[in-house]
Amino acid sequence: MSTALITGANRGLGLEFARQYAAEGWRVLAACRDPSQAQELEELAKTAAGRLTTLALDVAGADSVAHAAQQLQDEPIDVLINCAGVMGAEHQTLGRIDYEDWLQVLEVNTLGPLRVIEAFAGHIERGTRKLIVTLTSGMGSIADNNSGGWIAYRSSKAALNMAVKCAAINLAPRHIACVLITPGWVRTDMGGPHATLTPEQSVAAMRRVFGSIRQADTGRFFNYDGRTYPW
Ligand SMILES: NC(=O)c1ccc[n+]([C@@H]2O[C@H](COP(=O)([O-])OP(=O)(O)OC[C@H]3O[C@@H](n4cnc5c(N)ncnc54)[C@H](OP(=O)(O)O)[C@@H]3O)[C@@H](O)[C@H]2O)c1
Repeated sequence: MSTALITGANRGLGLEFARQYAAEGWRVLAACRDPSQAQELEELAKTAAGRLTTLALDVAGADSVAHAAQQLQDEPIDVLINCAGVMGAEHQTLGRIDYEDWLQVLEVNTLGPLRVIEAFAGHIERGTRKLIVTLTSGMGSIADNNSGGWIAYRSSKAALNMAVKCAAINLAPRHIACVLITPGWVRTDMGGPHATLTPEQSVAAMRRVFGSIRQADTGRFFNYDGRTYPW
């Protein structure tokens, strides 16, 4: 049985990843900040015949990430999905920058996924699939930035892209593929009600892409539909 570890699994895209992998018979390690408040995961666990386990993991906390990794000891993990993320304060334009908030966004969106990659690289190495996927955003693309704004969020994802590209190079000798993907504009708390894709559509499309990723693809930035996204 294949195993997926998903961060931010209590709502939005993370919850949908948990749903789809569980429905396909995978073992799902559903990580979230507070499992005791994750009712939808609890419901999902009831229908997953013991294959879904929740795990407390705050990507912004070094101790929390280390503790979660220790709890799983030598377990192999096939696919790690770094999904947790935040948008930050509403106004992120020149003249209205909240620097404390920006630091928090960097902590969660940039440092968080790298902490998780570092802590779980050994588990992934023991897995069969050896795949790490990190959710970034088209808003983190410098080439695609024609409208500005969202300085904290955009810069956190642009920095994430560089950090994951470095991790991909570091992990290549261990035969671990490490890629970035943008989920499109999706109707979640973050994407809002007017987004073009449902979580079901976005996650189904991303999972198809994951299925086709080979070691030679490591370090790439994918769109949810499998096309290459410009940096
Ligand atoms: N939706 C879109 O249109 C869109 C577009 C481009 C990229 N993305 C990216 O896709 C990913 C998922 O987004 P989404 O739309 O599902 O967002 P969402 O609905 O706002 O969910 C965000 C998830 O991240 C978790 N999270 C936040 N801070 C965390 C922390 N410190 N530690 C652990 N988990 C934390 C949240 O948990 P809590 O419930 O505990 O807060 C929640 O599970 C993000 O990385 C986002 O940047 C989304």
